[in-house]
Amino acid sequence: MRIAVLASGGGSNLQALLDHFAHVDENAGEIVWVGSNSASAPALARATAAGIATGVIVETTDGDAILKQLTAAKAELLVLAGYLKLVPAPVVRAFAGRLLNVHPSMLPAFGGVGMFGERVHSAVLASGARQSGVTVHFVDDAFDRGAIIAQWPVPVLPDDTSSTLAARVLCAEHALYPLCVAAVAAGAVTLGADGRSHGTVNLAHLDTLFTR
Ligand code: GRF
Repeated sequence: MRIAVLASGGGSNLQALLDHFAHVDENAGEIVWVGSNSASAPALARATAAGIATGVIVETTDGDAILKQLTAAKAELLVLAGYLKLVPAPVVRAFAGRLLNVHPSMLPAFGGVGMFGERVHSAVLASGARQSGVTVHFVDDAFDRGAIIAQWPVPVLPDDTSSTLAARVLCAEHALYPLCVAAVAAGAVTLGADGRSHGTVNLAHLDTLFTR
């Protein structure tokens, strides 16, 4: 499958995806285009360094314009990797079941409007929760609400700050997200007419990397 990625920031998840599809699972899919709402996003520099075509999304609420860019790239799967804007409804509709996001908490906890970046981890710490984690989900027309594809728990340690927790969660994101994207690209996980995710992602090798 031809995969397009949207990213707003540093692009470490994009990098994990680029590495996965270039070196680990070359036949699972191909990243063909990376778009960002910010022309200066380091994510775009990472894409350029990998020889991937990039584009800037000038009007983030203009679904038709975004669809034009995705159509020009012949994108079949759309992957959000730290994309901070709401994806317009026409794009969500066109990519139903082929649009994924990664979120740095165990949704539905600590998700929704305004819950991004350090804010998520600060809220987890303020709640006293002893566990956080990562969620990969299909995207619908609300932030962080679509059908869950897979989750991976991450422990909260007693002396954590939002930065140390964010770093631990980010490592798990880098491991989990490419496996989920590959599973959807291969048709092993699908979004059913019932609005639920069907099929499973094989996470066996994550057990060797992380305790849960
Ligand atoms: C990640 O924590 C992701 O879950 C969230 O934003 C962060 C993006 O990091 N949506 P990066 O740009 O992939 O490094």
